[in-house]
Amino acid sequence: MFRKLTLTAALALALPAGAALAAGGAGYVEDFDFSFEGPFGTYDQMQLQRGLQVYTEICAACHGMKFVPIRTLADDGGPGLPEDQVRAYAEFWEVWDPELQDFRTATPNDHFPESGLENAPDLSLMAKARAGFHGPYGLGINQFFKGIGGAEYIASLLTGYTGEEKEEAGTILYENKAFPGGWISMSPPLWGDDVIYEDGTEATIEQQSKDVAAFLMWAAEPKMMARKQAGFVAVTFLAVLTVLLYLTNKQLWAPVKARAKGQPAE
Ligand code: HEC
Repeated sequence: MFRKLTLTAALALALPAGAALAAGGAGYVEDFDFSFEGPFGTYDQMQLQRGLQVYTEICAACHGMKFVPIRTLADDGGPGLPEDQVRAYAEFWEVWDPELQDFRTATPNDHFPESGLENAPDLSLMAKARAGFHGPYGLGINQFFKGIGGAEYIASLLTGYTGEEKEEAGTILYENKAFPGGWISMSPPLWGDDVIYEDGTEATIEQQSKDVAAFLMWAAEPKMMARKQAGFVAVTFLAVLTVLLYLTNKQLWAPVKARAKGQPAE
């Protein structure tokens, strides 16, 4: 009886986990290291600039980032481009102006253009929309310490092509280890040396993938560093407050306790 119960309990615990993984068809996400992980992690400015380059030269051919204002490229904690470079960069883009009813050259106050290819999703918030580390299953501890793993997912997706392809209902699908379901309609965008980095970093597939993933993390969460700082201040404040309250409490009750000790309990 007891053995049967234990067995049922074990099965009940094991099954949902297995079933959920199978149903979701979750892909394999590699736990890449990023500079912005952990409570004190910060964005690496050079990496964000390299990621911007990969985004601009490769991804923007199909994808857009319509929620990200171009001027934020100058922000502290972001890619930190000087103002004149941001202005020059903006001129690279054409945006639709509803007042002119025409396209015109972008200014830093415009947002990045939206996706040019209809079925390519907007990448503004992609790093927050996708999770590499899943809740209580799989790498739950990673989720707790390192966030939801959106950047890890994007880097894994870009490095996860196996080279296999198949045609389904007229669309070519590419096998990808990270994509849920295993087959994605985005052709492999990176092949190595797709861009030439000005800082001399070697543009391997993995390097470019990590750089653009870091850049997209910043795009989705530009205030991450400010948020961490505020969190740190709040925790420190609460810790100090706890100590002070403890001491105050002790002092307040000291006379009462001293009196209680002096008299035997009735
Ligand atoms: C040739 C066009 C094209 C290029 C270039 C391209 N993509 Fe895509 N991308 C697509 C399409 C189409 C999809 C939708 C795929 C699907 O859902 O099957 C997609 C989907 C994605 C997704 C979402 C995957 C998901 O989980 O739904 C991400 C992230 C992504 N692309 C990132 C990038 C990055 C980063 C680059 C640049 C290195 C890039 N793409 C370059 C066409 C492109």
